Amino acid sequence: MKLPNITILDEKDKKLRLISQEVKFPLSKEDKDNIDKMIEYLKISQIEEWREKYDLRAGMGLSYIQIGIPKRIFVVVDEIEEGEFETYILINPKVISNSEELIYVGEGEGCLSVNREVEGIVPRYARITVEAYDLDGNLFSIRVREDLSIAFQHEIDHLNGILFIDKIDPKNPYKNTNNMREI
Ligand code: NI
Repeated sequence: MKLPNITILDEKDKKLRLISQEVKFPLSKEDKDNIDKMIEYLKISQIEEWREKYDLRAGMGLSYIQIGIPKRIFVVVDEIEEGEFETYILINPKVISNSEELIYVGEGEGCLSVNREVEGIVPRYARITVEAYDLDGNLFSIRVREDLSIAFQHEIDHLNGILFIDKIDPKNPYKNTNNMREI
């Protein structure tokens, strides 16, 4: 497998703070190619052999702004069985409902734009329903839970210029965990 030619911005890059703009259809060929590249990159990053070969960190999601383009698109690649992936492409996503229950990743969230260890946890909804457009401009709705729910919320934050590190209180990085469920 060949690593796609994309550059992922580091947290220091101010572009990551932009509010991404709504996408108009039809998508350009360039946008479609970039979406393919982001998906391919995430898959490669999740396969140990290739991750090591290319010296990558494993990632589950990428937003378009992370490769420098401020459009409201993100992709999530979920390994459902070894070597088998479920791919999600969401364009102009909107969260239309969320659970009351909050969860967090016990070992902390990660981000391909944050190249350092960050202490602390981020509260996320255990379940959300999102409306979005697919590659062809068709509206669909999807309900996600647990790690997928966290991944979607993390990526939607990127579209609004927010990084997970913004949501951690450095003075109290594990606060309120008694009101949330660890996953
Ligand atoms: Ni991220």
